[in-house]
Amino acid sequence: MKKTVLTGDRPTGRLHLGHYVGSIQNRIKLQDEADAAFYMIADVQALTDNAENPEKVRENVLEVALDNLACGLDPKKTTFFIQSQVPQIAELTVFFLNLVTVARLEQNPTVKAEMAQKGFVMSDSENTEIRKSLQYVVANEKIRNVPAGFLAYPISQSADILFCKGNIVPVGEDQKPVIEQCNEIVDTFNRLYGETFERVKHLVGDTPRLVGTDGNAKMSKSLGNCIYLSDSKDTIAQKVQSMYTDPNHIRVEDPGQVEGNVVFTYLDVFDTDKDGVAELKKQYQAGGLGDVVLKRRLTEVLEGMIAPIRARREELAKNPEAIMKILEAGTEQARRVGEQTMNEVRKALHIQYF
Ligand code: TRP
Repeated sequence: MKKTVLTGDRPTGRLHLGHYVGSIQNRIKLQDEADAAFYMIADVQALTDNAENPEKVRENVLEVALDNLACGLDPKKTTFFIQSQVPQIAELTVFFLNLVTVARLEQNPTVKAEMAQKGFVMSDSENTEIRKSLQYVVANEKIRNVPAGFLAYPISQSADILFCKGNIVPVGEDQKPVIEQCNEIVDTFNRLYGETFERVKHLVGDTPRLVGTDGNAKMSKSLGNCIYLSDSKDTIAQKVQSMYTDPNHIRVEDPGQVEGNVVFTYLDVFDTDKDGVAELKKQYQAGGLGDVVLKRRLTEVLEGMIAPIRARREELAKNPEAIMKILEAGTEQARRVGEQTMNEVRKALHIQYF
């Protein structure tokens, strides 16, 4: 079986530690093992909830490319491309739209969570007003103001993956329902039109979901609890300083809690000196280890990891034209691959006319 890796990011902001452990580390490892590897900048998907904000999406195309390059994704091994510039993806999306019901999209847990988070579901009061004015009486009827394109993004994401016959997708845990959706499309397509696509494997990193600096279950830009891969040493120190520890650990000599203590959660993920961490935990639980010392350790660990990424990023950022050249060459390659797939798809769909 040919291993084709496809992954991507929405260009809506710089990438953070959650992206790194959830997906980027896997991307880097896989680019050496795979027969082909693609990295997509998902600008079309970013526009599904930023339709009024195209400048923001445009500005972040370079940022996410820089983040991935700085981490070690290598354009010699991985084809970097921009989603909007590969028309075959849009074309494939149109055909996939016929294979999925609206009800199925509405049940997708990822989409549901994002709709609520982004305010696409009307507030209760708004909802009632509109119901009254329209005299809606159907129980549990939901009036949504979600853009159709946003609701359908799992379909478009399936086309992102399948246009190049991708079968391994390293991406965060929150994307699981989207990958399931993709596999349903594969099954339906193959059943209706003959074996064309392979089922897709979702690959999640060792830390599928990194907690935010505030202890929230997810590190997320909108929650303002992120440490970015481009943060300065001072910013890292300041963010670690503000981290949630054990509210009852007031004096140094007090025994402290390790469970739920964000500093320890991060040390478990990022500190390679596991014995050292075990020793710190022991001391902390017994009392006598202060938060200041503990946080200093984490700051060192994170700075040690981020410093080389930040340095490479700054170097690469000096020459944005070179990055755009990488994206342009990769996009051309992606179009060629996409055209091969579309020829097969058009045949399968009986729409090869001329
Ligand atoms: N939805 C992904 C995210 O928000 C980004 C993405 C778009 C993607 N298309 C993809 C990831 C295809 C993997 C495969 O992180």
